[in-house]
Amino acid sequence: MFPAQGPAVGTHVLELGCGPGFYACRFAQEYPQITTTGIDLSKRLIERAKSRAASRSLNNCNFFHGDAQSLPELFGPIDAIIVSRLFLIVPNKEAVLAEILRVLRPGGRCFIAEPTSGFRTRLPLSCMWLLARLTSSPAGKYREPQQADVMTRPDFSALVESQPWASVNLEYDGWYQYAVCTKAEEAAVPAVSRDVTWSAA
Ligand SMILES: C[S@@+](CC[C@H](N)C(=O)[O-])C[C@H]1O[C@@H](n2cnc3c(N)ncnc32)[C@H](O)[C@@H]1O
Repeated sequence: MFPAQGPAVGTHVLELGCGPGFYACRFAQEYPQITTTGIDLSKRLIERAKSRAASRSLNNCNFFHGDAQSLPELFGPIDAIIVSRLFLIVPNKEAVLAEILRVLRPGGRCFIAEPTSGFRTRLPLSCMWLLARLTSSPAGKYREPQQADVMTRPDFSALVESQPWASVNLEYDGWYQYAVCTKAEEAAVPAVSRDVTWSAA
């Protein structure tokens, strides 16, 4: 995800579907030279993530309520995006991936981790739902989904490759499947533009 010497000063990392902010806080703590931003559809979990950052005195870590399927313009360009266990519950997976590609800077990278096992998925999800219910902050209308849709390897691969990345690395272990996707340095010319022909009026 980052160069061997660590991320450059000023690197902006976005975590989509950050939940209680484990990764955004962890990266912000480990690399004080970067800024992390966590986005989640659950206002309760965003409040929880903010508390987590405050309890660690992290000033380089922000959390916002938002929908990964339609990110505000505010979030771009981003150097790196982390997406852990979001696709198993988000309805429009392709829209999330298109948004990731849109807000990443040219040459930026996205790291995706998705479980391959329903059993392994249910336990942390149950903990998250319990945590969301126990949190006393305002709930808003969104309720954390109770269904998890574990993707097969071919489905995961097809989803990741639905966007025109410069490169994609897929890896699998016993429980998780991972993708590291790199956006092209220069924006590719959309196929529709290349095929346009002009006719005389
Ligand atoms: C299984 S949890 C994963 C939390 C964290 N990324 C992790 O791996 O520990 C999925 C998270 O995605 C959030 N989420 C679901 N749909 C979302 C959406 N459309 N936009 C942003 N976050 C969403 C949920 O509220 C939940 O916090």
